[in-house]
Amino acid sequence: MVGLTARAAAIADPVIWHDVECSAYEADLALWRELASAAGGPVLELGCGTGRVALDLAARGHDVTALDSEPALLGALASRARARQLRIEAVVADARSFELAERDYALVLGPMQVTQLMGGRDGRDALLSSARAHLRAGGTLALALADPLEGVPAEEADPPLPDVRERDGWVFSSLPMAVHPEPGAIRIDRLRQAVSPDGKLEETMASIRLDAVTPEELETAAARLGMRVRPRRTVEPVGDYVGSVVVILEAP
Ligand SMILES: C[S@@+](CC[C@H](N)C(=O)[O-])C[C@H]1O[C@@H](n2cnc3c(N)ncnc32)[C@H](O)[C@@H]1O
Repeated sequence: MVGLTARAAAIADPVIWHDVECSAYEADLALWRELASAAGGPVLELGCGTGRVALDLAARGHDVTALDSEPALLGALASRARARQLRIEAVVADARSFELAERDYALVLGPMQVTQLMGGRDGRDALLSSARAHLRAGGTLALALADPLEGVPAEEADPPLPDVRERDGWVFSSLPMAVHPEPGAIRIDRLRQAVSPDGKLEETMASIRLDAVTPEELETAAARLGMRVRPRRTVEPVGDYVGSVVVILEAP
């Protein structure tokens, strides 16, 4: 029998929910691979989580540094890299204030909604400055922006399917329940459920707040820092995943 403590630990484990909610997403990988190959030098991923992108790029021979503010997620990334015999430098730091010894990155990436988790304009500006300080001249900064309110009107949309994952006899499911516009942000509420191997259900609500920011706003802020704005790229929506616009900036 699985005790209450183990069930409480499972429902609170950030690695599990990161994997459930992010790890199956693949629509953007072709773009990061293309940018990393074109950059021809070391790559820094901001907000890498458990390594969905960092592991993929390292497996393709790129020299990858992976940075996240959540130590548990980086711990999972590091052990996955070891299991696959991949060398990734994992750094616990805030994307708004990091200072790394290496300052010659050819490419800095912010996949998924990382840029929208910086707590508003000041945080985003701080991310832009920190990233710029670590890029070589001519290096590329590529930041994805997603709009969870894009697409078909709510009354025409099918209800979303939950993200589901099984691990060691446990079944974890995360279902988006509501998307609320808030001042300067969009809040997404998810119902997270964990069913233990003996069939006991534990559940909790989790909210994530994404800053509402347009590609134009991000490009204007980057241009103020002297970065050159390059043509944007897009990642198409697939299944229940919204698409994104990827802002491409070049360090002077
Ligand atoms: C949506 S996940 C994306 C994970 C990964 N980039 C991917 O595409 O699979 C957002 C990540 O950003 C990290 N994050 C949020 N705020 C951060 C900050 N201020 N500094 C560094 N990482 C941050 C979170 O811990 C989380 O791992």
